[in-house]
Amino acid sequence: MPSRVYECIAKINDTIQANKDFLTDLDREIGDADHGVNMARGFHAVTEKLSQDETDIGAALKKTGMTLLSTVGGASGPLYGTAYMEAGKVMAGKTELTAEDFGQILDVAIAGIQKRGKAERGEKTMLDALIPACETYHAKVAEGADLVTALDAAIEEAHKGIEFTKTIRATKGRASYLGDRSIGHQDPGATSATLTLETVRDFLKA
Ligand SMILES: Nc1ncnc2c1ncn2[C@@H]1O[C@H](COP(=O)(O)OP(=O)(O)OP(=O)(O)O)[C@@H](O)[C@H]1O
Ligand SMILES: [Mg+2]
Repeated sequence: MPSRVYECIAKINDTIQANKDFLTDLDREIGDADHGVNMARGFHAVTEKLSQDETDIGAALKKTGMTLLSTVGGASGPLYGTAYMEAGKVMAGKTELTAEDFGQILDVAIAGIQKRGKAERGEKTMLDALIPACETYHAKVAEGADLVTALDAAIEEAHKGIEFTKTIRATKGRASYLGDRSIGHQDPGATSATLTLETVRDFLKA
């Protein structure tokens, strides 16, 4: 039987494959029509490379990050690759995921993305979904919420973040070349980040 962490990452792959065209269409509007293709190629490779028996969550996340770095080009490969590798460090040697662990994962993933991409909130990137989601996640856990309840609230904020990206112009990545013409379109990376959070939530709930 595949390990829990393998199953969860395989579910993320399923989501990415199912949304490949959707993500690519979003990137066609403001980028170069490859976000879904990039992510689908990366996560397919991840499921090929990852051992189904891996129980060390940190090792699985590290391998995921390394595979994304080496198989996905463009902006999102290094950014998601770094996020998963940083998450792998937090989870090194752990076989269970607590609410506190997931908060730390969000923190280090965002810090890694920001270190690599030099973007702030409000530049129409994946950070516009992830940062508000992370803030709400921590607030809910501080109130005593469990992982899934906190993640539910975080995902609501991530969706608001996606809506927010429609209202602003991009100042990072290829979409920034469009200037004001990027307004009115939702950011592909904010969308894939939110889909990832939803998949983890659904997996943990099941
Ligand atoms: N500097 C950055 N920091 C954070 N996220 C970024 C940055 N640059 C781009 N992104 C995210 O990456 C997504 C695009 O990913 P994609 O797989 O299409 O790579 P790409 O075509 O090389 O990227 P881009 O067109 O942004 O240069 C964007 O929607 C955005 O969310
Ligand atoms: Mg692109």
